[in-house]
Amino acid sequence: MRKVVYHEYGNPVNVLKIENGPEPAAPGFGQVLVKVTKRPVHNGDLLVVKGGHDPIKREIPAEGYISGCEGVGIIQALGSGIGSARNLRVGDRVAFFAVGSWQESILIPADFATPVPSDMDDELAAQLHINPVAALLLTRLTTKIAASPKSGVLRISAVEAVLEDLGASRMEAGVVLLSAAGSLVARLAATMLKAQGYTPIALVRSSALSEALQKATGITVIGTDQENWQEEVLKAAAGRKIFAALDAVGGHIGETLLTLLSPAGTLVSYGSLSGDPIPVDHVHLCMSAKTVCGIGMVHWTQLPYGSRAVEMASIIQLVRDNQKLFKIAGEFPLSEAADAVRLFRQPGRDGTVLLSS
Ligand SMILES: NC(=O)c1ccc[n+]([C@@H]2O[C@H](COP(=O)([O-])OP(=O)(O)OC[C@H]3O[C@@H](n4cnc5c(N)ncnc54)[C@H](OP(=O)(O)O)[C@@H]3O)[C@@H](O)[C@H]2O)c1
Repeated sequence: MRKVVYHEYGNPVNVLKIENGPEPAAPGFGQVLVKVTKRPVHNGDLLVVKGGHDPIKREIPAEGYISGCEGVGIIQALGSGIGSARNLRVGDRVAFFAVGSWQESILIPADFATPVPSDMDDELAAQLHINPVAALLLTRLTTKIAASPKSGVLRISAVEAVLEDLGASRMEAGVVLLSAAGSLVARLAATMLKAQGYTPIALVRSSALSEALQKATGITVIGTDQENWQEEVLKAAAGRKIFAALDAVGGHIGETLLTLLSPAGTLVSYGSLSGDPIPVDHVHLCMSAKTVCGIGMVHWTQLPYGSRAVEMASIIQLVRDNQKLFKIAGEFPLSEAADAVRLFRQPGRDGTVLLSS
């Protein structure tokens, strides 16, 4: 069985190797054996291969780690303890969230397998988990932020004005900034936030892309390559509160979003495309009562199975409703994972890169 493995942390193009190994064991309690047909390349996959997810950089075992974290495939066998309510049968197609998807067959927990509707193709089904779930988490968190301003938290004179400013305790129609707004996650989140009555302002690194994105989404798009882009943001906000910023870039962009937020606003970090940490001036936290927090798949995995299953049903609908956003930029066999990564890294790439087997 072929698998894409790394034995050392580093540039994925250099350290990812295709290897042959034994087939997985028979599924144990609560496990499902899946023959994987397609899996996407994600920024998070590459970050993990570089060791960027683990400050301690734990030692890699002799057999290496297998890359990837989601995919779609056919159920080959079911372990014990999987009730019929799970709707999983041998021969069925499932989309799944599980580490090590860049291999031909994988054992996954049944709890993270989602039956795929028969009219949904593999290209779409392979992308059901990571990006749509991230968009859903971001949207839900933004709604929570909007509904719970921090009025009454601070009562020192210097911030009285800030608190008064929060008087209108809800943020309907308030502004949400999104960086890396051409990304699938940001487009999905912006679409949902707009539908809920908020005002997303999309930031992209190249103004050349703004017009097309604005036309496609109907959302204000601003290029951060313009010298005066911060002023453009404030102009577009037109005096409304910028109560949240959803940042996937980090570094200087993350810092600037924090500065642009209205008092008591929240910066939500969910990616680090720049690779740079966000410098946080204490003034934002101490005097302007701003908050910095983050979301990730780990938050979602901690929800009980029942809640996740209900969410997957709404995600399937979300993906169907926004099918045009799920473009494919290229597809490669597992043995060409390095080429897949090269395409994935091209600026302006339009769509997901898939690995197939
Ligand atoms: N926390 C989580 O659980 C979670 C889950 C899923 C995704 N994410 C994160 O969400 C982000 C988007 O993922 P995706 O798969 O939706 O992305 P994507 O569709 O692959 O698109 C990437 C976008 O980011 C832009 N970009 C790349 N590098 C950039 C930089 N240094 N500065 C500014 N913009 C940059 C690209 O712009 P160009 O068009 O100009 O190339 C492109 O529009 C990533 O950071 C990813 O790690 C997080």
